[in-house]
Amino acid sequence: MHQEGIVILDFGSQYTQLIARRVRECRVYAEIHPYHTPFEKLRAFHPRGIILSGSPASIHDPEAPRADRELLSAGIPVLGICYGMHFLAELCGGKVEQSDRREFGSAALQLDGQHDLFKHFKSDESIPVWMSHGDRVTVMPPGFISIAHSGNSPAAAIRSTSRPLFGVQFHPEVVHTPRGRQMLENFLFEICACRPTWTMQSFIAESLASIRGAVGDRQVICGVSGGVDSTVAAVLLHRAIGNQLHCIFIDNGLLRMAEAQRVVEYFQSRLGIPLIHADASEQFLDRLAGVSDPERKRKIIGVEFINRFEQEAGRIGRVDFLAQGTLYPDVIESVSLKGPSATIKSHHNVGGLPERMNLKLIEPLRELFKDEVRELGRELGIPVEMINRQPFPGPGLAVRILGPVTRDALSLLRSADAIVLEEVKRASLYDTIWQSFAVLLPVKTVGVMGDERTYENVIALRAVNSVDGMTADWARLPHDLLARISNRIINEVKGINRVVYDISSKPPSTIEWE
Ligand code: XMP
Repeated sequence: MHQEGIVILDFGSQYTQLIARRVRECRVYAEIHPYHTPFEKLRAFHPRGIILSGSPASIHDPEAPRADRELLSAGIPVLGICYGMHFLAELCGGKVEQSDRREFGSAALQLDGQHDLFKHFKSDESIPVWMSHGDRVTVMPPGFISIAHSGNSPAAAIRSTSRPLFGVQFHPEVVHTPRGRQMLENFLFEICACRPTWTMQSFIAESLASIRGAVGDRQVICGVSGGVDSTVAAVLLHRAIGNQLHCIFIDNGLLRMAEAQRVVEYFQSRLGIPLIHADASEQFLDRLAGVSDPERKRKIIGVEFINRFEQEAGRIGRVDFLAQGTLYPDVIESVSLKGPSATIKSHHNVGGLPERMNLKLIEPLRELFKDEVRELGRELGIPVEMINRQPFPGPGLAVRILGPVTRDALSLLRSADAIVLEEVKRASLYDTIWQSFAVLLPVKTVGVMGDERTYENVIALRAVNSVDGMTADWARLPHDLLARISNRIINEVKGINRVVYDISSKPPSTIEWE
């Protein structure tokens, strides 16, 4: 779809997605492919440049990931980052050796001469860069020169004098390399001659045309949850095909306080998109009765969702497409060299629905990162409160009530959770925190209220900072905010006499309690 972008070959670095995001921030489209992708396949994309990512591997590992050497044959500019530089250097006939000690952390880069990669930098500048490597280039490939050095790396940046091939030992994509953005811009605009055409307006124009082309005069159904992704997908589709889009909102009875009414109102009044609102609370809660095991809860909720969705869709008449708000991180074929794969678990795919209902999938956001979806949403005129919503899990409050889900437990949790949200918003922290919520624990503790002894439930508060939900750290909420939340919950929610704060990070814990 987008030709003349940048291909990023992923050698398994934890920063690969970050490289793509940085390139896109420069308004150039970037796509990630696994390192073993045959060059023929990459060439079809007509890349203006190729970036080789870093890797947890060493080039000396017997299993070291190696890319198709054909990538040097087409004259396309290449930038190797860290391991990517080692791979490039070896491929071009240089030698890479293990250093005596690993270089990790900030280093000062000194330029050796004037080169396009460092345009707008002064030659006597000391440039802070982030290093993280154990190997280094010890014998320069024929025709290559060093263009920058650091205290520990005589060849901290290299280039070929005859071909557009560059390598940097450090990571320009991380925030600890403050001027990395300028270096990437130099690579993109000075070396690859990219144009900054990847904008949300151009994305919208291309998407509308391609959705209309694919759908023709047929009908599309789309499940909406009130979350950012499905809302943005629905608005984009609605703009493309108007009333050929049928949005279905299934209220599973596990939403936050007043959430269902809010979603219905948003769609109908603010967004002007008709919504089929199926109140399936009773059906879900009946099936969940007595179930404590988290995976069984998820399974039941998944099955009920599909049943009800199918039933609602059946009333529409002939439908050919199912639209989903799948994002790019769920699509990238992940490269896992050591440890778990770097892809967030996919919660989007509504288990087998497309096959079961014989529908073709349409995924208008599958090229976008989360921050781009938000930008797209703003561009489409979606209200900011909707766009800045914190993520909410599909199984909803069922995974925040430990033990069986009952109507009473839901009502308790909803009241406590509403206080958490209200206070976090009042403290102007809602937009900076990844998620903040209450969890109802299946334990009772003793307390005193007035002269009376109480024996009631405990609420755990959870608030985390994260960039993608993969890892998270507990948020250092101000003590007075914690105090206000605790006081209000204990005073206002009958049945709760104790509030605790969860101070675990992910890993080893998870964000949700179930
Ligand atoms: P965990 O608890 O695994 O959560 O650290 C990571 C992110 O995923 C959300 N989450 C879910 N979302 N269905 C969903 O749609 C699920 O079953 C589910 N479990 C966790 C969680 O809220 C967090 O944002």
